Amino acid sequence: MTTNQKTPGYTGDIAAQHNDPLQEYSAENQEIIFSAEQHSIWADLFAGIHQPYLMEHLCREYKDGLGLLELDPHHIPTVAHLNDRITPRTGWHIERTVVRYTLADDWYKKFAQRIFLITDYLRTRDQMEFTPEPDMFHDIFGHLPFLTQAFYARIEDKFAPAYMNATQDEREVIKRLAWYSTEFGLIVQDNRFKVFGAGIISGRKELTRTIMEFYRLGRDNVIDYSRPIFPQLTAHFQASKTNLHRIIDGVNALHQKGQMSSADEGWNVVLSLYKNLGIKQDGMFGGEVIIAPFDIETIARIPKTVYAFNPMLFVCESLDQMDELLDSYLKPIAARE
Ligand SMILES: [Fe+2]
Repeated sequence: MTTNQKTPGYTGDIAAQHNDPLQEYSAENQEIIFSAEQHSIWADLFAGIHQPYLMEHLCREYKDGLGLLELDPHHIPTVAHLNDRITPRTGWHIERTVVRYTLADDWYKKFAQRIFLITDYLRTRDQMEFTPEPDMFHDIFGHLPFLTQAFYARIEDKFAPAYMNATQDEREVIKRLAWYSTEFGLIVQDNRFKVFGAGIISGRKELTRTIMEFYRLGRDNVIDYSRPIFPQLTAHFQASKTNLHRIIDGVNALHQKGQMSSADEGWNVVLSLYKNLGIKQDGMFGGEVIIAPFDIETIARIPKTVYAFNPMLFVCESLDQMDELLDSYLKPIAARE
């Protein structure tokens, strides 16, 4: 396929970038010529996560999709490569965009047309562990393997029709439901916690922290992996729900005082909150992240200012359960006249 190719216009400096809609990529002009340095950043990010001891904690569907996507570990793929492997399988299309994530409404409008936007931004080398906003590595490596899978296309299909029909308050809840499922969700497979969310998969630091918590839960006898794990997690959650909600409120209060500036410090903030709130640092509160069942009431309670920071992650017992739980909130809104 011949396309007019663009030279990279993006420097990695988000603050300095002026988002000009006139610069938007057209249908015929989707590809970027990346520099050798950008390909090498991609290769290092890819190699950092594509390790057997990390991959074994990712859900089955992700690994199947990654195989189907045939990503080159050393080169950023073209949009054409991605569409050739995704569109015939699920009908979704990938489009390059200059639009940033903060503009959720634009994103959902495209979602409604089964178009998944990928940014033209790639983190720089000093942002390997933490990127201030999702970049194309997150979009491609984290999300797109799933878009070869019919069930994921079905899950992504749910959000836009509800979002377009929702009130402003409901839109905030919908964004959090998406955040704690497709971005930061966990599921149970083979009686183990597995990573589902693209935000965890595409971030080595998030991923290793999450996996450490899986092990910590076993080590501290919170979860006995020789017995069904989801009922155990549910029992811990029911017993700790009040404290969990106090933590959510506490994180929000700190956030509003400006005492949380990055994801990295966020984990420490939670630890100090335990002290201030008199919550004993054991059981499900014994690690650096709290893992709880996907409870819509709890997720909806997470304030707007906090949901982009992850003191807690939510687990569905299966992908079917995720399907049902999301439907229970989204379907009535989507069906509204
Ligand atoms: Fe994402």
